[in-house]
Amino acid sequence: MNTINIGLLGLGTVGSGLVNILQDPQPRLAARQLRITRIAVRTVTPERQAQYPGIALTTDSQSIVTDPKINVVVEAIGGTTKAKELIKTALTFGKHVVTANKDLIATDGIELSQIAATHHVGLYYEAAVMGAIPVLRTLRNAYAGDPISRITGIANGTSNFILTQMIAHGSSYDDALALAQRKGFAEANPANDVEGLDATYKLLILTRFAFGMNPSMDDVDIQGITTLQPQDFVTASIWGYAIKPLAVSELTPDGLCLRVAPHLVPLGHPLAAVRDENNAVLIDSQNVKRLSMVGPGAGSLPTANSIVADLLDLADDIHYGNTPERFVDTDTPAIVADSAH
Ligand code: HSE
Repeated sequence: MNTINIGLLGLGTVGSGLVNILQDPQPRLAARQLRITRIAVRTVTPERQAQYPGIALTTDSQSIVTDPKINVVVEAIGGTTKAKELIKTALTFGKHVVTANKDLIATDGIELSQIAATHHVGLYYEAAVMGAIPVLRTLRNAYAGDPISRITGIANGTSNFILTQMIAHGSSYDDALALAQRKGFAEANPANDVEGLDATYKLLILTRFAFGMNPSMDDVDIQGITTLQPQDFVTASIWGYAIKPLAVSELTPDGLCLRVAPHLVPLGHPLAAVRDENNAVLIDSQNVKRLSMVGPGAGSLPTANSIVADLLDLADDIHYGNTPERFVDTDTPAIVADSAH
């Protein structure tokens, strides 16, 4: 079995988690012969290079995505403009790509998937949505025969963490946000977390997988957690409710309805018990009725674990010539704007 050479772009929270997991692989992972051979970082020093024996650090990302010896590129630099160019180049050079980049996949995922399909490679992004929760492969594989009516998620760990800190520990909003940043959950621009944009990116991707529709940011009613006041939590609790940052995508008689906002959730509801940086998703459908998954929605190892799940799928594809259901969107009808509101 040939080694699969991985070029990693970025050595931040997620990238370093992936290095950790692959450096000491579990047996099933070791059998797939996945090896990180090159990593693109902002600066290379001899001390830093010495921490990664057998892996070549470089500041030249372009040289990785065009390197004929690299089979798979893992994009973990985030942002959109540079990441998009690098992913496009990698796909065009015939490399499979795995990414955790929800902003990019939410806005340009279909275009990138079409490029992947043209070049007969896979574009995988389980890690882009809800960290460790395997929600995309669940939607893609387990719901092919089951019409979904609604997806309800806690999709932003930072917002959930801040609200938990404020309610359970009486923290101030600023202290809770600073702690989320120190713990590495918050985005580089935490406004994306607390104003609902990060959850909206994830909701758009979930909606593609759940409903085969392709709405845009403009189709989502978005409200962040920044306007909540301490009194809101007190009043909610007196009436038997928690306040949770929900992302909802549902089919109504009038069409698809998408919203991201803090919601009142009855204290006995499963989502009321989802605390800290955890994420959760409830899938309501005709056959299964309701399925729920809860788990870490952010963080180094949990998110990197979802990248590893994608790497396992594509390793099987490469080694055994399987054609597992790839995370491509070329079969997604470009419906929607006017049925979403
Ligand atoms: N900032 C994101 C969150 C990280 O808090 O959920 C994971 O996407």
